[in-house]
Amino acid sequence: RQTAIWGYNGLLPGPEIRVRQGVRLRIAVRNDLDEATTIHWHGVRVPNAMDGVPDLTQAPIAPGGSFFYEFDAVDAGTWWYHPHQRSFEQVGRGLYGPLVIEEPEPIRVDRDVTWMLDDWRLTKADEISDDFGNRFDINHNGRVGNTVTINGRMPGAFKVMNGERIRLRLINAANARIFALDFETLDPIVIALDGQPVAPHSPDNRRIVLGPAMRVDLILDMTGNTGSRIAVVDRFYEGLEYTLVELAYDDTPMRARVPDWPIELPANPLREPEISNAIRHDVVFNGGMMGGMVMQEMGGRMGHVGTARMTGGMGSMMGMMHADKVWFVNGVAAEGHIMDPMLILERDRSHIIAMTNATAWHHPIHLHGHSFRVISRDGKPTRYREWQDTVLMAPREKVEIALVADNPGDWMFHCHILEHQAAGMMGVIRVA
Ligand code: C2O
Ligand code: CU
Repeated sequence: RQTAIWGYNGLLPGPEIRVRQGVRLRIAVRNDLDEATTIHWHGVRVPNAMDGVPDLTQAPIAPGGSFFYEFDAVDAGTWWYHPHQRSFEQVGRGLYGPLVIEEPEPIRVDRDVTWMLDDWRLTKADEISDDFGNRFDINHNGRVGNTVTINGRMPGAFKVMNGERIRLRLINAANARIFALDFETLDPIVIALDGQPVAPHSPDNRRIVLGPAMRVDLILDMTGNTGSRIAVVDRFYEGLEYTLVELAYDDTPMRARVPDWPIELPANPLREPEISNAIRHDVVFNGGMMGGMVMQEMGGRMGHVGTARMTGGMGSMMGMMHADKVWFVNGVAAEGHIMDPMLILERDRSHIIAMTNATAWHHPIHLHGHSFRVISRDGKPTRYREWQDTVLMAPREKVEIALVADNPGDWMFHCHILEHQAAGMMGVIRVA
C-alpha cells in the first residue's frame, strides 16, 4: 500500500542531483510545507552561508518562502541533502535526496546505482506513526522503525547479471537505524566512505556498517550463478536480523569473468592534517538512559580528561532532566542552533579532536563543513585513516579525528540520530 510522505518535488527520495566535480551548483528551493525548513548539503564542503542551518547560517525558509543555494562541487563523491529544521520529523517523513558529484573521469563500471536506505514507523493502516520525538525514542536509540525501504520502496528482487560490475552508493537516510549489511557469498569492496575515496578493501567481518547519515561506495562484482539469488542481510541488531533485499541473477550472463578495470578513486582536494603539531581538543558525550552509570564508571578510567567537565555534565544533566534535553556534549545540552561555540579552532591549523562516548549507546557524530580523518579508535591507529564527515562511535568508545580547519565559520557538530540531536546532542565548532 502507499503511504503519504513529505518529499522534494513530490518524490521519494528527492531528485538525484548529479553533477561533475568542479561545477557550480545553483539550487532554488521553495517551501510548500506548513512549517519552516532549510536544506543542509550533508558532507559537502560549502561556504558557511550555504550550510542550511536555521538561525545560525540563514533565516529559516518560512512557509511559502524561498531560498537560493549556490556553491561549488568541490569534492567528488556520494553526498545527500535534507532539512536541518525539526529534522527528526522532516527527514523522518521523507525529506531527503541524493547528491552525486562525479569524478572528472569516473571509474569504469557497468552500472552506477544509488540506494537510499530508510526505515519508517508505520501504523497498521500503513500511515506514518506521528509519535515523532517521543520521550522513549529520545532516551534510547532514537526512532527505529518497523519498515525498511530502498529508494522509498519496500525492495523486491534487484536484478543483476553474472559477470557484471556495479558501483553501489549506499546512503543511510534513517533517523536512527544503523545497518550492518552482509552480502553473503559476494565480496563487496569499499572504495569510498562518506563520499571520500579510501584504499579499496573488504570490510571487517564482511559487514558494511552505516550509521545514520553515513555513505559507503562499493564495488560489487557479481560472481554468482545464473538464475540464483543472493540475500543481502542486515545483521546490526542482534536477534533482529532480516533480509533487506535479494539480488536475483538473470538467466544470461553479461560476461564470463568479472572485469579487471581499476577501482581506485582519485583523491579529493583535502588538506592533510599534520598530526605532530596539531592542537588537541577533548570532547565527551554523555546522557541518555544509563548515562549516569556509565559516566561514573568512565570517570575512574579517564584520568585527566575533563573530570571537571564531566561533573558539570552530570550536574546540568540532573538539572535538565525535566526539559527533554537529555544528551550532552562537554556538559552542555543544545537548545536550538544558536549557541556559544564549544570549541574554537584556529583557522588553517591542524587539529585533533579526541572524543569519548561516555554513554551506553551508539552515536554517529557529524561535523559540518569539513571532512576529517579518523586516526584512532580506543587508542589504536585505524588501518585506513579514512576521511569521514560522520563517524560512528560504539558505546564507551574513544575516537580521535584530525583535520585542517580550513573552512571559516560556525559549524554544527552533532549526533545524527535525529532524536538525540533534538534532545541536546549538538554543539557549535567555530573556525576562525
Ligand atoms: Cu546531515 Cu547537521 O546534518
Ligand atoms: Cu546519538
